[in-house]
Amino acid sequence: MTIEEIWEYYREDLESAEEKIHETLRTVAPAISAVGNHTFSAGGKRIRPLLAILCSRIFGARGDSVSTLASSVEFIHAASLIHDDVVDGADLRRGQPSAHSLWGNQVVILVGDFLYANALRLANLLKRQKVMDALCTATAKMSEGELIQLSKKGNPDMSEEDYMKIIQGKTAILMSAACMGGAVLGNASPAEEEALASFGLKFGFAFQIADDILDYMATEKAFGKNLGKDLEEGKITLPLIYLLKDADDGEAAGIREIIRAEKMTEENLLYIQELFRKHKSIEKSYQRARAIIDEARKGLEIFEDSMEKNALLAISDYVLTRKK
Ligand code: IPE
Ligand code: IPE
Ligand code: MG
Ligand code: MG
Repeated sequence: MTIEEIWEYYREDLESAEEKIHETLRTVAPAISAVGNHTFSAGGKRIRPLLAILCSRIFGARGDSVSTLASSVEFIHAASLIHDDVVDGADLRRGQPSAHSLWGNQVVILVGDFLYANALRLANLLKRQKVMDALCTATAKMSEGELIQLSKKGNPDMSEEDYMKIIQGKTAILMSAACMGGAVLGNASPAEEEALASFGLKFGFAFQIADDILDYMATEKAFGKNLGKDLEEGKITLPLIYLLKDADDGEAAGIREIIRAEKMTEENLLYIQELFRKHKSIEKSYQRARAIIDEARKGLEIFEDSMEKNALLAISDYVLTRKK
């Protein structure tokens, strides 16, 4: 099964979540609708809503509560992207100018706040304490992850362990909450909830490692974001951590100089890409992601065969082959 087939198969469920998103945006201050519509209409893979939908439907649950959860997780995600682009100074998102580059930081920070608050308001409608706990924790941990990342900015001595801690917070925990929330709505057993929460967490780790690889290796058109952004910002991600480990002294000094410069040139990006090739840093990063995905897939063994289980397996493979 391909991701396109999954999107198509679950189109109705995804559209219900989308309807909920647009319904919310219609009834609020014009600035919120404008920024919100721009953000949600620009595209986006809707991976988190999809995880919530699959993890509910694996137990046969669908309908209003599932679309509420699905829209809530996408609102949290969208808010985090709007704020993240301000922090990262990113001009391009989902192939469009980023929200802050059109409306300015003041407006979009407030809209981001609204989206977070609104996501939790929606989740609260579910009256499921476990779901609420998971989403509140995820939201808090995401901010923590972004702050730890900021504190490590430009630090070439950052360890793989530091990196994993950051991406757990900024990416994996929300994906885990989307899966766990779906399981709760499906009235799963505690063991099943735990299995899906763990699947989502691992999926999230691999998803962010792939994003960090694509930041260097994607085509800008497919990725919808500027390439080399992480390096420009001094954001040390897994490919660069591996490269710094394997580089000889001369190369390491050059890499450190590029990180310090906080200025991206085509030449610097090509140089780093060349070193990646020489030291197989991208292969090693994919291997790490692949190992995590293998574990995630193993965790699904407790579930009987179903369309949803197959879809979860298929999107876990897609993480490693995605171009956007
Ligand atoms: C981007 O997430 C931020 C990361 C966690 C890497 P997505 O890659 O899911 O972004 P959209 O929603 O598809 O634009
Ligand atoms: C993920 O980090 C951002 C959040 C989860 C908020 P990135 O900074 O790598 O995300 P992109 O690359 O801007 O989408
Ligand atoms: Mg960013
Ligand atoms: Mg990125």
